[in-house]
Order: sequence, then structure tokens, then C-alpha cells
Amino acid sequence: MLFRNRAVISLESVDSTNNYAANLIKLSPPPEGTVITAQFQTEGRGQRNAIWESHDSDNLLCSFILYPSFLKSEDTFFISQVVALAIQHTLENHLKKEVFIKWPNDVIVNNKKIAGVLVETTWSDSRLSHAVVGIGINLNQQEFDSPRAISVRKITGAAWDRLECLEALTIQLEKLYLKLKTGRFAEISGSYKEHLYLLGEKAQYISGNEQFTATCRGINQSGKIILELEDGLSQTFDLKEISLVY
Ligand code: BTN
Repeated sequence: MLFRNRAVISLESVDSTNNYAANLIKLSPPPEGTVITAQFQTEGRGQRNAIWESHDSDNLLCSFILYPSFLKSEDTFFISQVVALAIQHTLENHLKKEVFIKWPNDVIVNNKKIAGVLVETTWSDSRLSHAVVGIGINLNQQEFDSPRAISVRKITGAAWDRLECLEALTIQLEKLYLKLKTGRFAEISGSYKEHLYLLGEKAQYISGNEQFTATCRGINQSGKIILELEDGLSQTFDLKEISLVY
């Protein structure tokens, strides 16, 4: 077992499970695989400085603590890939329907977002010292402000217990993290690409003030999306430079 001696820290309410995990590491680093979960976050955070909102006790909100010091800096995106794949596998097993990964690590079902990931890494001497992997999975929430959000319950009509989902997710994450630790990079990126949302399909993207049509051809090693533009030329973009209109 990879996440030996890991603890599950269950909180009722916290500002953000990612903040709690980061403080814990500063105070006294817990065993790898330790996970913090909360029923409610007062300052849940998402990608691109967004707020992550979640109704009290409805969804899975958690942060795993990892020490991926074996990774080279150019391979950091593999953390995002294994986490997105762990969620993808967990949800596909439960829902028995196709689940996609929207670059870099959103998880999509029925063209709507069901889960999001916020990976926060800390470096020392150009090695990764630790990563806090924050995961939000919409489980039982029925109403969302965004028309592009969905939950397990809205799909199946049935509730899924947060801690049961966490257990299933931990099993998948442990397996994939072991693959990463043993250097099975091609297998991981192959599987990530296999589940990539809108791969090979024309879609609308926004970069700066410009909206344009392009086709996703994959992701490069540093985690940038490769888009084929309408003139046939390919260009790469990082998360700060582009967003998909969907
Ligand atoms: C995103 O899609 O924008 C990422 C959302 C990540 C949300 C999770 S919920 C648990 C953890 N704590 C946070 O404050 N954020 C992550």
C-alpha cells in the first residue's frame, strides 16, 4: 500500500481544505496520502482565482497531501493528469457512462462540469517538495447557479455518500500515483488523451479578446494544449492564455 499510515481528517467547516493541508505541512508534514475533507468551505478556491461554491454537506470537498519529489520540474503536469484520471475512473465506475477530462483537469459528464481540481505545488531547490491536490466533486447538490454544472444525483437520481466516494477515489488515486512513481509516463498520458474532452473536434476558444475556432490535437509534455487553427497551423497555449467556450 502506497499511502501507508495516511490519515483522513474530517472537518465540519474550514476556510479551504487546501489551506488546511498547506498549514498542516508547515506545522508537521503528515504521511503521504493524508486527506483533509470538509462538509463546508467558507473560502473554497478554484482555478484562475475563482471561488468554489458548494452547498453544505452535499458534495465531496477534499485535499490530498503528496510528496512527489521524484518528479522533474518538466513533468509536473503528470500530477494533474493522474488526479483527473483518478476522478474520471471513479465517476465512470459509479455512473456507468462516459466521463471526460476537460483540459487541464475539469471532469465532464453530459457536457457539464461535475468535478474540478486545484493542484498547488511547493518547490525547494528545483525539486517538488510537496503538492496539495484539492478536489471538488458534485455529488448530491441539486441546484447550481451555473447551467454548466451537474452532480451525480442529477444524473442517477440517487445520493452518493461523500465518504464512500472518497474511499473509491483514494483507491484510484493510489493506483495512478504508483504508476507515476514507477515512471509509467506514456501509459498515463495515453489514458489522459483517450478521455480528453473535444479531442479532434472543432470548438470555440477565447484568447485575450479574440474568439476563434480550433481543433484540440492533444497536450504537450509541459501541459500546454495543442490547437490546430483554421489555417492549419498548430499553436500551444497554457491555462492563463486560453479558455474553451462550451
Ligand atoms: C476548479 O475547477 O476551479 C477547481 C476547484 C477545486 C475545488 C476544491 S474543493 C476542495 C479544495 N479546497 C479548495 O479550496 N479548492 C479545492
